[in-house]
Amino acid sequence: MIVSATEMLKKAKAGHYAVGQFNINNLEWTKAILLTAEELKSPVILGVSEGAGKYMTGFATVAAMVKAMDKSLGITVPVALHLDHGTYDGAKKCVEVGFSSIMFDGSAYPIDENVEKTTELVKLAHDNGMSIEAEVGAIGGEEDGVVGMGECADPDECKRIADLGVDMLAAGIGNIHGIYPANWQGLSFETLDKISKKVGDMPLVLHGGSGIPDEQVKKAITLGVSKVNVNTECQLVFAAATRKYIEEGKDKQGKGYDPRKLLLPGTEAIKDEVRAKIALFGSADKT
Ligand code: 13P
Repeated sequence: MIVSATEMLKKAKAGHYAVGQFNINNLEWTKAILLTAEELKSPVILGVSEGAGKYMTGFATVAAMVKAMDKSLGITVPVALHLDHGTYDGAKKCVEVGFSSIMFDGSAYPIDENVEKTTELVKLAHDNGMSIEAEVGAIGGEEDGVVGMGECADPDECKRIADLGVDMLAAGIGNIHGIYPANWQGLSFETLDKISKKVGDMPLVLHGGSGIPDEQVKKAITLGVSKVNVNTECQLVFAAATRKYIEEGKDKQGKGYDPRKLLLPGTEAIKDEVRAKIALFGSADKT
């Protein structure tokens, strides 16, 4: 059931758990995530970056695929189809083609410009029954060519953006996309606590969810994080399972080269990863 992320995140915030956003890259990813969410009766958010959208030949293709798959698999849990780190133009495009949620990442703009553009997109999203995420304080690391330094967001700026009526807020607390370096200092719970106190009921989003120690993720959830984004870990387990299949020579046995067989171990590995994350975030049986 494709819905906006508003209700599922309000419930998560009130219930002290988090909903996972799992990024999708292709059909196998999408199917694995939808089936696992359904199996565990968990709400879920499918994240689509601008780069992944282009790879899948455009946001219109993604929207059509996800809607059709949701229906053909008989998915009953709430699913939000969400633009991840959207540009201003990308966000508008996703509204047009029928996503149910958008993120506008204005963190690279001066705060006044971020406020101005976010205000306009909040109206557009809400007029179309969609939810919207905004960002303050760049998330570190690199995702689809967007490089952030991993700064901690200013709690007053967070309050300013939260007051624009967004449905969820991504605020940098030392988190980064991709693999965490060995000398990473961990999440700044002091910053998270200050932001949480400023923004009250606003669901907070933890980007860069791959590789953060479980205890830190749990603590972040107790301090107001209601959505955790995961991409890299699914990519890593998919690659490792595919590598194993090929290194064991299974692609050369019978019709093991058939993509439906070749991509199966990776797809199953994504399901295992999503199961583990849903357990960690506490969103099973929360529909
Ligand atoms: P990771 O790739 O580090 O899990 O981050 C995903 C993310 O935050 C998507 O916005």
